[in-house]
Amino acid sequence: MPFYHKLGEIPPKRHTQFKKPDGSFYYEQLFGTIGFDGMSTNSYHEQRPTQVKEIKGNYSVAPKIAKANNMQSYRLHGFKVKPENDYLQSRKIVLSNSDCNIILSAPKSSTKDYFYKNTDADELIFIHKGTGKLRTHLGNLDFKYGDYLLVPRGIIYKLDFDTEDNRLFIVESYRPIYTPKRYRNWFGQLLEHSPFCERDLRQPQELETYNESGDFLIKVKKQDEIFDMIYASHPFDVVGYDGYNYPYAFSIHDFEPITGRVHQPPPVHQTFETDAFVVCSFVPRLYDYHPLAVPAPYNHSNIDSDEVLYYVDGDFMSRNDIDKGHISLHPAGIPHGPHPGAMERSIGKVKTDELAVMVDTFKPLKVTEEALKIADEDYYKSWLE
Ligand SMILES: [Fe+2]
Repeated sequence: MPFYHKLGEIPPKRHTQFKKPDGSFYYEQLFGTIGFDGMSTNSYHEQRPTQVKEIKGNYSVAPKIAKANNMQSYRLHGFKVKPENDYLQSRKIVLSNSDCNIILSAPKSSTKDYFYKNTDADELIFIHKGTGKLRTHLGNLDFKYGDYLLVPRGIIYKLDFDTEDNRLFIVESYRPIYTPKRYRNWFGQLLEHSPFCERDLRQPQELETYNESGDFLIKVKKQDEIFDMIYASHPFDVVGYDGYNYPYAFSIHDFEPITGRVHQPPPVHQTFETDAFVVCSFVPRLYDYHPLAVPAPYNHSNIDSDEVLYYVDGDFMSRNDIDKGHISLHPAGIPHGPHPGAMERSIGKVKTDELAVMVDTFKPLKVTEEALKIADEDYYKSWLE
């Protein structure tokens, strides 16, 4: 997170004695990234956060790759992913490379009997359907339709859902996810030309603190495996913290679109960046207003990035037969563009209600077995007239 946040009780000076009312000590933890160079948080715990009781075992959650080298455009029917009770089991990796996994998930139940921690990857969880609360050891965030939840690596969390009808689009990123650098000044503050500002980014305001001993299962993801680790103290035992490294939320509905007289390029939609991919938000907006404007995008060759679009809502003007929950994959190296008739259809239109999330990866994506289960194999021919 690019700005300082403080929640709960902390001592006036870091790395100094911090005592409980009974005279015993709280336990400090520096929670940092990129060695000691990245963002960090200092948190204060009721009990030592190091009390591993048992490692019960581990199992693989590596994606099963069906096509390692892919030149085919695909449409995936995301809502065909079957809802499952358990959150982790419901996560289906559909596209993958060494930098990220793109995941569809339809969990029916809240995470009750375990906590989850991804030690390798930041998780960007887009809420397509569902409301509830993200509970973390650094505080809670309420979520609803249209929210991005950014959970930095190492955050221990649970997801509580209000109903069984939930649809999530998740990017699991081995590279840290930041707001775009070009929108920040040298202090990190978001600049006036940024399509969102600090007021739009929601920080945890509610901290749950349990001073409990017992057996607490944390499912820890590391190197494509999940380790079932039993801790002797409740993972949510933080009384306070401060720093830059904590989960936050941003609603796609708070993204202010940048428009122009002629068609604006995809970077104007950029919301997050890493050094391996970008995430863009396509939101309802006025179309280009040059008298001879063509609102539909031009054909384009993304020669060196795979393009993944996740369709959320509205009528997606450049595509025929695209519905909510669909993913289109347009691989690097070959051009794609509006479907037949879409360019002509767009002329004279003044606005669009489309809502979509785009992930452009700089390395090619592998197509998984889970993807082929919901894939439209003929989509790549859909530009033929
Ligand atoms: Fe495109």
